[in-house]
Amino acid sequence: MNIELTETIKKLEKYNQSEIINLMKNVYTNEELDKITKQIDGLDMEQVMDLYNNATKIPDVSKNKIEHIGYTNLSTLDEEKFKEFKTAGEDIIKANKYAVITMAGGQGTRLGHKGPKGTFKINTINGEKYLFQVIIESLMKANEKYGVTIPWYVMTSDDNNNQTIDSLESHNYFGYDKDKVKFFKQGKVPMVKVDGNIVVDENKLIKEASDGNGSIYKSLKRAGILEQMKNDGIEWIFVGGVDNILLRIVDPILVGLTSTEGNLISSKSVVKNNPQEKVGVFCKLNGVPKVIEYTELPTEMAEDIDENGQLKFGEVNILSHLFNIKALEKLADVKLPYHTAFKKSNYLDKDGKLVEVTEPNAYKFESYIFDGFSFFDNMSILRVKREEEFAPIKNASGSDSPETAINLYNEYVKKYNK
Ligand code: UD1
Repeated sequence: MNIELTETIKKLEKYNQSEIINLMKNVYTNEELDKITKQIDGLDMEQVMDLYNNATKIPDVSKNKIEHIGYTNLSTLDEEKFKEFKTAGEDIIKANKYAVITMAGGQGTRLGHKGPKGTFKINTINGEKYLFQVIIESLMKANEKYGVTIPWYVMTSDDNNNQTIDSLESHNYFGYDKDKVKFFKQGKVPMVKVDGNIVVDENKLIKEASDGNGSIYKSLKRAGILEQMKNDGIEWIFVGGVDNILLRIVDPILVGLTSTEGNLISSKSVVKNNPQEKVGVFCKLNGVPKVIEYTELPTEMAEDIDENGQLKFGEVNILSHLFNIKALEKLADVKLPYHTAFKKSNYLDKDGKLVEVTEPNAYKFESYIFDGFSFFDNMSILRVKREEEFAPIKNASGSDSPETAINLYNEYVKKYNK
């Protein structure tokens, strides 16, 4: 064994990685050893094992001081304020200070679509459209209205970056100015089996999975995009998901509200449908803005009713966020917490045999974009109408499926002649 390999094995021994050590000592060829050694050397094993050791500890949010978060209701906004926000927002957009990021690094497992979620096609009363096309059309409408070409950034992951670019290339960016479109990849973190061994996949390499949409802050900086935005004079950046076909990507009211209130971040919300809806909800936790994800909201809290008979935690996060560039700069250097998901992952056992699993067996670690909000004392929240801005496609059938989203989209188009 050469010195480099001995060092790598030592690093693994420190973290009880017996399976991968056996593979390296007794199964791998020299070429395979070479590849895996390089991969292991690039890993922060201390961090990975720390995540593993905390994997089953779900934070008990109810132990904290939790309060309502203040919001502005678009439906009841008086005319004067509406005009004020609209003008302030439009001025920013028209001055080429506005950019859009679409987070498209997710796997879309629940939808069962093979390939990037943005390449999923839906059939609406306006014709067949890919999810990326819906976004681009919305950008193009805004461009026409404000006389600009809004830069569009797409966050991808290692798993779908090439497919995403190839697909948009093959559709000629649905008519968008290609020079205004940039891609950047999010980060990844190894998956760890319940027994503490890191997952080795069929390619004989450590399985690294996308590290959640909170990866956006560091990834933007790493890819040099923050710098580029600054040089281009961009001040406000909208960040949205890929799968809400009613997402309003360019909304001067949101921009105007945030800048007028003097905040560096804002989000849109809708009222929660029912306690079980699988969405995150806004609140203030220990005095700072926070989203509690549905996986971490205790049932009693989810069902809690306030003095007006409304759900106490009913302000839904629809993944419609706005950041001032200063906020993104700050968040690029903070450490976000990680959340754990329990997933199925086939793996190579210590003798190199592929084990195909039918039940979850491994932890996947993700940071969430909204955990960045807690690094600020305040943020603006704009409550909008669900039927006008929220038609997510998450599942293959049932709630939040193509069928429910397309119905909402069609209703909207009919009502507003869009
Ligand atoms: C998300 C929100 C939830 C909100 C709901 C509304 C997060 C963590 N959760 O839940 O609070 O109520 O949308 O529809 O934001 N993504 C990446 N990289 C990743 C993981 C996800 O880019 O590693 C992107 C996806 O492509 C998608 C978005 O983030 O555009 C949301 O991801 P998803 O995992 O689908 O979150 P939800 O469970 O839907």
